[in-house]
Amino acid sequence: MADQTVNMALLGCGAWGKNLLRTLLQTKHANLTVCCDVNAGNCKDSLAGLRGFDLKDDPQLVFDSPDIDAVAIATPAVTHYDLARRAMLAGKDVFVEKPMTLTLAEADDLIETAEKTGRILMVGHLLEYHPGVQMMKDLLTSGELGTPYYIYSERVNLGRIRADENSLWSFAPHDISIILHLLDDEPTEVSAFGGAFIRPGIEDVTFLWMRFDDNRMAQIHVSWLDPHKIRRTTLVGSKKMVVFDDMQPTEKIRIYDKGVEPNGRYVGYAESLHLRFGEVTIPALKMREPLRLECDHFLDCVMTRKTPLSDGRDGLRVVKVLDAAQRSLKSGGSPVSLR
Ligand SMILES: NC(=O)c1ccc[n+]([C@@H]2O[C@H](COP(=O)([O-])OP(=O)(O)OC[C@H]3O[C@@H](n4cnc5c(N)ncnc54)[C@H](O)[C@@H]3O)[C@@H](O)[C@H]2O)c1
Repeated sequence: MADQTVNMALLGCGAWGKNLLRTLLQTKHANLTVCCDVNAGNCKDSLAGLRGFDLKDDPQLVFDSPDIDAVAIATPAVTHYDLARRAMLAGKDVFVEKPMTLTLAEADDLIETAEKTGRILMVGHLLEYHPGVQMMKDLLTSGELGTPYYIYSERVNLGRIRADENSLWSFAPHDISIILHLLDDEPTEVSAFGGAFIRPGIEDVTFLWMRFDDNRMAQIHVSWLDPHKIRRTTLVGSKKMVVFDDMQPTEKIRIYDKGVEPNGRYVGYAESLHLRFGEVTIPALKMREPLRLECDHFLDCVMTRKTPLSDGRDGLRVVKVLDAAQRSLKSGGSPVSLR
């Protein structure tokens, strides 16, 4: 096991695929020897200087190769379903980037295909592997934050404007996966508003709301048309509040011992409550690159046949929210029930 390696191919070597390429090449248990991109020229720069690397322009050649055990798919979302399905049917374990698919039927089918073929299916919900998100999860699980009341998340910057998908499908999978992971639940209702300013029909900015049982709620703001670069998640609990700010180089987590509690006197409603302004703690966070942790986890699952944290079912629950949010977006923000 210590020396075991998994023979891998990367499908898609665009902006993000290049990061996967770099990381998989450094990952001990990955033996990445094939890169496949329909536009093979996209890989050439990244592969320059790498000896013995096979460059292909047709994924079928990868699926037909008996030398490949697993594939990482970093192609546009519209291709995920077809490539992931064909790969599993050809006997390969699959890591597929977020969003897993564009429809619920496709997501269901990938889960079924993984079950039928006995293949590992893992979705690139990168932030679930971030030590900052893991710390938030631990704080919730240990009870330190109390009952979660609400969460809001911002992922905005002035960045690459996509022509094929809107800000909801491009950015929000990260925040949705963080929130569902933290709450370990799915929303009962979703609504979304968005604005398309640069290209007709492609929302540059989206505001997404989710309601959960027990009066919990979450809000997500994503945009590639914003003066700020923010990647921040705030969770307000009944005991404490926590902020995960991924733009901070080191102090990424702050725990606020702030809250509202009864003061034991009843004079009137407002007077019976006490605002607590306690300490702000910045815990030491042992940082490792999330993409590295994610790749290590995939390889571990392939070698031990363990179910990944972000498996097909996790992929499906994120696609469910995206699908409901897209319907709400197109209806001008009407709530969509997921009960
Ligand atoms: N986890 C993250 O943080 C993160 C960040 C950015 C993008 N992504 C995801 O990664 C994926 C790729 O995004 P990107 O920004 O790199 O896109 P991109 O357009 O820059 O690159 C996609 C590449 O895939 C190639 N390609 C297209 N169809 C193909 C096919 N059928 N077979 C093989 N190659 C094919 C294209 O030629 C291109 O080189 C998307 O799903 C995106 O959501 C994830």
